[in-house]
Amino acid sequence: NNISIIGVPLQYGADRKGVDLGPDAIRGANLHERLRTLGFNIEDTGDLDVQRRLETPKEGEKLKHLQEIVRVNTELCDKVSAEMARGQFPLVLGGDHSIAIGTIKGVLQHVKRLGVIWFDAHTDVNTHETTFSGNIHGMSLAAALGYGHPDLVGIGGAENKLRPENVVIIGARSIDPGERAFLKEKGIRVFTMHDIDRNGMKQVMEEAMEIVSNGTDGVHLSLDLDGMDPFEAPGVGTPVTGGMSYRESHFAMEMLFERNILVSAEFVEVNPMLDQHNKTAMAAVELIGSVFGERIL
Ligand code: ARG
Ligand code: MN
Ligand code: MN
Ligand code: MN
Repeated sequence: NNISIIGVPLQYGADRKGVDLGPDAIRGANLHERLRTLGFNIEDTGDLDVQRRLETPKEGEKLKHLQEIVRVNTELCDKVSAEMARGQFPLVLGGDHSIAIGTIKGVLQHVKRLGVIWFDAHTDVNTHETTFSGNIHGMSLAAALGYGHPDLVGIGGAENKLRPENVVIIGARSIDPGERAFLKEKGIRVFTMHDIDRNGMKQVMEEAMEIVSNGTDGVHLSLDLDGMDPFEAPGVGTPVTGGMSYRESHFAMEMLFERNILVSAEFVEVNPMLDQHNKTAMAAVELIGSVFGERIL
């Protein structure tokens, strides 16, 4: 019943400025009040320190801003682990999706066999060998699985990693060729938009939750707001048309609450500079409310 909010104003894993303002935009959309109304004790631990000014990456640099991203994620890993050690539920607010490495590595210190639900338009399983963009937010799931640049894989200990059979991706509709090969090779279950269209969110979530909870001791939710349709969540740096509707996403969160499997969660990629009337931050808070038990009746 105790939630620790951890803000990570990191933008160096993404290409477009403004995602560092995400944590405050989400807080500003009435986050604390919503959670307190549900009966939770909220401790907002504030934001991690992120260097304000970095050199622009050199032309041809493979991994942009690798050093600072590793530094912040290592700190995040320790913070998440420390909060869990005192019985808190870590709720991490991004920031770009590279922060999933630090969050997941921190949770793995306590939950060795961890399932992950990855809500996203993308699959974020690029490595330094497959990436076209050099943006580390497109590599975070691979790193948490133990693949990619050694500095990323080494965050929180290279031996702490997810197992592919405990990971599901939901909402994907933009997958790079190298990622497609990786997902196939590792046997990671991807529920694409096609699957959601065909079978509905209810069945997709039932299957997904079965996979991530089977043989694990807890589940982490990593939710990239660009998984939603840009019509309803426009404030993201890498929008892709044809995403999950507000209702579908909301319902998926309600199902997660009912099943009561989460040990941690993060909401990332909210970019207020690209948003319209704070729509995306408000959507994030709606989803967070549902995941923690908000009900209509
Ligand atoms: N696949 C693309 C890349 O690697 C886009 C990744 C977008 N990731 C995200 N977390 N928004 O650059
Ligand atoms: Mn994405
Ligand atoms: Mn992502
Ligand atoms: Mn609601």
